[in-house]
Amino acid sequence: MDESDKETKFSLPTGFLLGAASAAHQVEGDNFNNDWWHAEQEGKLPRSGKVADHYNRYEEDFLLAKNIGLNAMRISIEWSRIEPVQGRWDATAIEHYRKVLKKMKELGLTRMVTLHHFTLPQWLAESGGLATDNGVGAFARFAWFVAQNLGDEVDLWCTINEPEVYASMGYRNGVWPPFKRGTLSVINIVRKLVAAHNQAYATIKEVLPEAKVGMAKNNVHYEPFRKTNFLDRLIVRIVRYFGNNYILEKTKNHSDFIGLNYYFYNRLKFDWHRGVVEMNRNFEKLANTTEEPRSEMGWRTFPEGIYHLLLDLKKYDKPIYITENGIANARDDMRQDFIRQHLQWTAKAIDEGADVKGYFYWTLTDTYEWHDGFGPKFGLVEVNFETQERKVRDSANIFRNL
Ligand code: BGC
Repeated sequence: MDESDKETKFSLPTGFLLGAASAAHQVEGDNFNNDWWHAEQEGKLPRSGKVADHYNRYEEDFLLAKNIGLNAMRISIEWSRIEPVQGRWDATAIEHYRKVLKKMKELGLTRMVTLHHFTLPQWLAESGGLATDNGVGAFARFAWFVAQNLGDEVDLWCTINEPEVYASMGYRNGVWPPFKRGTLSVINIVRKLVAAHNQAYATIKEVLPEAKVGMAKNNVHYEPFRKTNFLDRLIVRIVRYFGNNYILEKTKNHSDFIGLNYYFYNRLKFDWHRGVVEMNRNFEKLANTTEEPRSEMGWRTFPEGIYHLLLDLKKYDKPIYITENGIANARDDMRQDFIRQHLQWTAKAIDEGADVKGYFYWTLTDTYEWHDGFGPKFGLVEVNFETQERKVRDSANIFRNL
């Protein structure tokens, strides 16, 4: 899309959700019963501390969301707060999340709730996490418990956030807890995450037959580096299947909607010596090129990719929510175009039959960005982590003007 498309008019269906997404550990602060916190204390990851103190400031944050013009929020519930010790459910934590969810409703925000957004209670991490059948069972019980105790305050359920990102960061690249590196361990965790989603789906439905349950799947838009090269095209087909579609295929009978997290695209090249080369991941080498816009994460932005991914998801014949899409941009000079262009391409996909029901920008306030700590700034709202002062970024005005 070029400059002239900036002002192109587009319309979104009535009732379309425009929201922001967040995750407990990235904003709440003091989540000291989870595996991330423990790894942080061991010096393996940057410390999150109080982060944006959202645990105490949720009211202020949701009010900002509403004033920005949003009508929905996706939050996550921190399992380690609800079940700090195996089998011991914490009434105070449940009460807290009930207040949080009620406040969202009061402000007219549709509520999507994620049950697993990368963190685990430490007791579970110590006994093998979600990589064991016991872990899968524990997750299903947690889902059941939340459905029983908070179900009347949840509009949309998201079981697991980005299963294959979790699997590759924690079990292949060894960068996130539990810091494993191995092909077998990654295959095992993917299978267990599929089982965890499917079982959680079933237990939520047991309690709330009408609940709308899905997962947030991070899909990448892949293209062959050399458009007409047979091998480049072949690897794109293979990587697309395993990266984007495999988990969706395994969970489609236990999903009421598809959640799509879209951040970047990748051009794949087959090289006889190096195998599959991801041309857009070569960040350092390309960091100083100006050929395409690039976020502070080093990711190239490519709004058109969301259109192709949405059309691909049509085959599942289910409603789709864009559960995350965002850009790290402290200077705030790219964010508004980024959002507008992604929404324009989304509107085009809707015109062509994709049943997209909503869009959640990542994220409302600046956050703790996992192993990147406090560097990248994704927020519609800037946070001064020393004083906890919030300041709405100019780009956030786009939602009011839409
Ligand atoms: C994750 C978020 C993360 C964002 C930006 C997504 O993969 O769900 O937790 O902050 O990407 O990196």
